[in-house]
Amino acid sequence: DAKSKELYSKIEHGKMLRSKLMIKIAGDSDDVISACAVVEMIHLASLLHDDVIDNANTRRGKASINALYGDHSAIMFGDILYSKAFSQLALISSEVAHIIAQAVTKLSIGEMLDVELSNSFNTSYDDYFDMIYKKTSALIEASAVVGATLSNKDTQTYATYGKNLGVAFQIVDDILDIVQDEATLGKPSMSDLKEGKVTLPYLYFYHDGSDEDKEYILSKFKKELNPQESQELKQRLIHSGAIIKTKAKVNEIANLAIKALSNEDSKELEMIVSAMTDREF
Ligand code: FPP
Ligand code: MG
Repeated sequence: DAKSKELYSKIEHGKMLRSKLMIKIAGDSDDVISACAVVEMIHLASLLHDDVIDNANTRRGKASINALYGDHSAIMFGDILYSKAFSQLALISSEVAHIIAQAVTKLSIGEMLDVELSNSFNTSYDDYFDMIYKKTSALIEASAVVGATLSNKDTQTYATYGKNLGVAFQIVDDILDIVQDEATLGKPSMSDLKEGKVTLPYLYFYHDGSDEDKEYILSKFKKELNPQESQELKQRLIHSGAIIKTKAKVNEIANLAIKALSNEDSKELEMIVSAMTDREF
């Protein structure tokens, strides 16, 4: 309808990582293209809801739907996209529907864990990795598995590939929040710690740091920082080696994704891994 079209026209398109994956794995049959639309609608619905939850004013360099039309419109438009996605999904196959529906459950649990973990300063690596797997990687993993299912390839291979790609993707996001500028990012930078999100660079900084470092980072948790304080925090993270260590972890996980493909002929899927880990935004 007209309102949905208006809202949709205000949204900048994304990287379409999940669709690219499916098409590179499975080609561009009608079922694959339909599954791509389904996954992109679900992803967009989750971002609309996430921006309400995070109270975010920008998304992909533009004003977010909640900022433009309020939380209620953003939630309802998310619901419309989400239900449209599921009506279309039901027509593909029950196997594909099951894979995607299970991933959306993980995604929703992941978002809830993200919110819960941000209530206090999380120091657990396991909780962080479990949360980012569910919040971000599960739908990427499902996209790869759907691609494999629709092209009769080995689903376990593509699950391992997608899962590790997704986890690496989210850690890169968490690095970019710290090292990238707002203009390139298309959303405010240095916002994770302010929102209570103790991402991997902060976990390394905390665990590897001195008592003074620990006290310092705890004092910045969920605090609105002025530009100088924000700059100091960024410099301390960089100089502590926490960013380098996080990048090394990204490489380790990205290599697990590439290793999963060792028996496949898939230069393009390997390229997706490097494009996603070397990205600027
Ligand atoms: C972005 O994370 C958020 C997600 C990847 C998942 C959001 C999931 C939900 C809101 C569950 C509801 C799902 C549906 C399908 C309606 P982020 O806040 O770390 O990233 P950002 O900086 O890009 O906002
Ligand atoms: Mg968010």
